[in-house]
Amino acid sequence: MSALLALALGYLLGSIPWGLLLTKAAGLGDIRSIGSGNIGATNVLRTGNKALAAATLGLDILKGVAALLIANALWGETAGLVAGFGAMLGHAFPAWLGFKGGKGVATGGGVLLAAAWWLGLGALLVWLATAFATRISSAGAMAACVAAPVIAAIAGRWDLALFSAGIAALVIWRHKANIARLLAGTEPRIGRKV
Ligand code: G3P
Repeated sequence: MSALLALALGYLLGSIPWGLLLTKAAGLGDIRSIGSGNIGATNVLRTGNKALAAATLGLDILKGVAALLIANALWGETAGLVAGFGAMLGHAFPAWLGFKGGKGVATGGGVLLAAAWWLGLGALLVWLATAFATRISSAGAMAACVAAPVIAAIAGRWDLALFSAGIAALVIWRHKANIARLLAGTEPRIGRKV
């Protein structure tokens, strides 16, 4: 029962589409018809509004952190992980947006950070290094996805390796269009306005 409650709590928190809400509130229109159409911080940055992109990033991270920590405090460690995965599902498939949501990079980062700070930090460093080298956000995201289970396995935390592999699989699957653009050489660099 607590697992179901944790999943529902995580889903509800994760399904808050911050990028869409903030850009609409700022009068920038519907972020889903701008750039990649994604509701995440990378696409919000394409509007040219850096503060809004930073707020989207922070709030999307925070909802992942909150889902895991609240469920952990209420129902224990396993429920925390279930809620973290629920937040990923909520972000990627929000009922309020016809189940068409985001890619889960920031929310996944928040979930990993809350699950084990060193794991979230490791994934973030890989994201930063790759994004800095390529100037491509999706390349950073997918490199971090590959790195997270490896980092957890090296630390001997096979539970977290499995958990982060599940998160990574969802995030990479949500990047199908980005992968196609990367292969075609048309994936835009970070911050390029549209
Ligand atoms: O965080 C999402 C990022 O990896 C890709 O975003 O807008 O370029 O599809 P976008």
